[in-house]
Amino acid sequence: MFKSPSPLHEDARMKIVELLNDRLADGLDLHSQIKVAHWNVKGPQFAALHPLFESFAVALAAFNDEIAERAVTLGGRAHGTARQVAKASGLPEYPADATRDLEHVRLLAERFEKYLEGVRASRAMAEKLGDPDGVDLLTRVVAEFDKNAWFLRASLE
Ligand SMILES: [Fe+2]
Repeated sequence: MFKSPSPLHEDARMKIVELLNDRLADGLDLHSQIKVAHWNVKGPQFAALHPLFESFAVALAAFNDEIAERAVTLGGRAHGTARQVAKASGLPEYPADATRDLEHVRLLAERFEKYLEGVRASRAMAEKLGDPDGVDLLTRVVAEFDKNAWFLRASLE
């Protein structure tokens, strides 16, 4: 562990860095899957979904960056190469043959919900470890991606 401006004990910082890296792996994996949906979506809903998926990718990229930088701020390292992410992500792989608009919506909705499970669990851990700033960051992720998951679920109703 490197030195950190954080007042948290090194033990707590180590655990938080670990959970931030788990969320980073999921987040980078999900970002790549959103882009695959953005590129390959076809069907009558194309005009609405192509830019909607891009807006999800942009929002997630910003959070991934914040999460990685928080891990380093706490004295750790950020692990985010494609190979590291492939090993560490808890999300299922994106089907290579998906094309139809609502099929992509369903696949992304399932993955957003899986991603949010991890973020909520990490937020509870950060709370336990006495890190209100980590809790705040993860709460912003939850608020944004709950909303995005709702956009997707609303398209399926
Ligand atoms: Fe694009």
